[in-house]
Amino acid sequence: MTYQIKDLEDYKRVYKESIDNPDEFWADQASTFKWIKKWEKVKECDFQGPEIKWFIGGKLNITENCLDRHLDESGDKIALLWEPNNPDQEHQSYTYRELFTEVCQCANALKANGIVKGDRVILYMPMVPELAIAVLACARIGAVHSVVFAGFSAQALADRINDAKAKMVICSDINNRGNKTIPVKKVVDDAMELSCPTIETVIVYRNSPEEINWDYRINKWWHHELDGQSPTCDPEPMDSEDMLFILYTSGSTGKPKGVVHTCGGYMVYTSFSFKNVFQYKPGDIYWCTADIGWITGHSYIVYGPLLSGATTMMFEGVPTYPDAGRFWEICEKHKVNQFYTAPTAIRALMAKGNDWPAKYDLSSIKVLGTVGEPINEEAWNWYNEKIGKGKAPIVDTWWQTETGGIMLTPLPGITDTKPCYASYPLPGIVPVLVDSDGNLVEGNDVEGLLCIDQPWPSMIRTTYGDHDRCKQVYFSMFEGKYFTGDGARRDKDGRIRVIGRVDDVINVSGHRMGTAEVENAINEHPNVIESAVVGFPHDIKGQGIFAYIITDQKQKDHSEFYDEIKAVVSKEIGPIAKPDEIMVVSGLPKTRSGKIMRRILRKIAANDASNLGDISTLLNPEIVEEIKTSKGIIN
Ligand code: WT7
Repeated sequence: MTYQIKDLEDYKRVYKESIDNPDEFWADQASTFKWIKKWEKVKECDFQGPEIKWFIGGKLNITENCLDRHLDESGDKIALLWEPNNPDQEHQSYTYRELFTEVCQCANALKANGIVKGDRVILYMPMVPELAIAVLACARIGAVHSVVFAGFSAQALADRINDAKAKMVICSDINNRGNKTIPVKKVVDDAMELSCPTIETVIVYRNSPEEINWDYRINKWWHHELDGQSPTCDPEPMDSEDMLFILYTSGSTGKPKGVVHTCGGYMVYTSFSFKNVFQYKPGDIYWCTADIGWITGHSYIVYGPLLSGATTMMFEGVPTYPDAGRFWEICEKHKVNQFYTAPTAIRALMAKGNDWPAKYDLSSIKVLGTVGEPINEEAWNWYNEKIGKGKAPIVDTWWQTETGGIMLTPLPGITDTKPCYASYPLPGIVPVLVDSDGNLVEGNDVEGLLCIDQPWPSMIRTTYGDHDRCKQVYFSMFEGKYFTGDGARRDKDGRIRVIGRVDDVINVSGHRMGTAEVENAINEHPNVIESAVVGFPHDIKGQGIFAYIITDQKQKDHSEFYDEIKAVVSKEIGPIAKPDEIMVVSGLPKTRSGKIMRRILRKIAANDASNLGDISTLLNPEIVEEIKTSKGIIN
């Protein structure tokens, strides 16, 4: 097992060791795993390429470390707990042995359907145990999984399938979320209609007795395919740097990019970070409420916990169904010890009042986690007082799809906590602040752009099919450093607070969205001439989406047009990208070179028209006044 830090002195010692002798430090961590062949060299990392390699020459299979390795000693221990959407339905549990068998059967079914090492398999599934099983089954045979969040539209799904040139989709018939039934398979059918020429098979997990549309040429039932498959499957030997998965995420320009993670480094880092950040102890019940469609679910529902031999829980539903006490009811029912969620959920539940958490016994909770976006002080305090009763330290974990694992966080019971601060780096992580020219911003009580100075095992390797994009976005901004896209401040004692994105990425309810992506979707509407999308502060979602649109529609009442805009965005991306506010404008503020001045649009969207700066140099300064007036902002 990877090392677990014990106290503050130990953290300081381990951190220093990890920076002074990174190769030795990570070799020690890596040696706690089962390797089919040991690595020859710990790392070779060149940020110019970028060319990032960890545990060079090593051979392993991550599922052997997630499953097989635990069978002798803890085969009967619960690996996966599943709590259904409907509270009247029984929960399910899988021991390590049972999970092993399911994964092997699924892996054999994939093989029987022609999937071989290196093939890409898209998983478009609700939060059912079969999603975790399918993830591990892919990894077992060396297929590259790419999980697509089941809230994305057919167009978004097709884009990802085609970018990954995937051979297979695994989906469900439907998805139960709150009191809604979402037709998952229908979305896959629609994606196929849009054309996904590389897909040979669509495997459908049955989640409802209802009949669904069926294409005998490519559709197959999950239960038919798994039935009768052997309960064992030899793990495919993978090179440390073979691809483990692709996960699509939004950037400031263009279509979402496929972030690539590889086997060796990802395994070592997710396990190490899981054990330390949550101070997981044998017997603990750990629950992360994220969806496996995002990196949090990959690293901290599936891989990190299973690599550490933990009991990890998956929840099918939503925080407010059947009522706003659901999370706390589940914590009481399963005696959850570590609870990990997003600020947007905390704010939404806080708004429902204190009576909900007060109804349940939350005394089992030892550690509370938050992730995905900055947490405001009010939500942090509520979480601390009403959920943790002041006794469960909050780990505000900062990281990204690209970092693979948690980078900055307090360690519970070890380092101090401060509202809104992700605070301290984990061992091996060297966060630095730079100014816009790339000069280091040193000392304390300062602000800057957050970069990471040294390589770490689970860092992004490439963006699938477009290595240059990876170089441009993360490694070209500041030489020799990984650029995060976030702005941060360091307080007088050296703790780090991540303030938010400094690029054209917005974070809506912890979901990452590119403004360009939303604009492209809006521009699909035939009456849109031009659009500009910015984020604005939103009480529950953290940020909302504000769309400024120039249209050729003449009528005064735009309400129908607004509905059409929301519909087109839902169709192109998914309901999560629908603008919260839309404003028809006659022009957009532009520089003389034609660049949209988003800074101004952001301020107006936030109802703050102070300090707009010098607008006289704009191509069309008069438009600022017009937009301000329509927004109801008076000087
Ligand atoms: C962006 C990454 C990593 C899992 C979920 C999000 C923001 C993430 C925090 C935090 C402030 C945070 C950053 C980052 N973010 N965690 N604790 N405090 N901001 O992954 O979708 O790749 O988004 O989320 O802006 O760059 P993601």
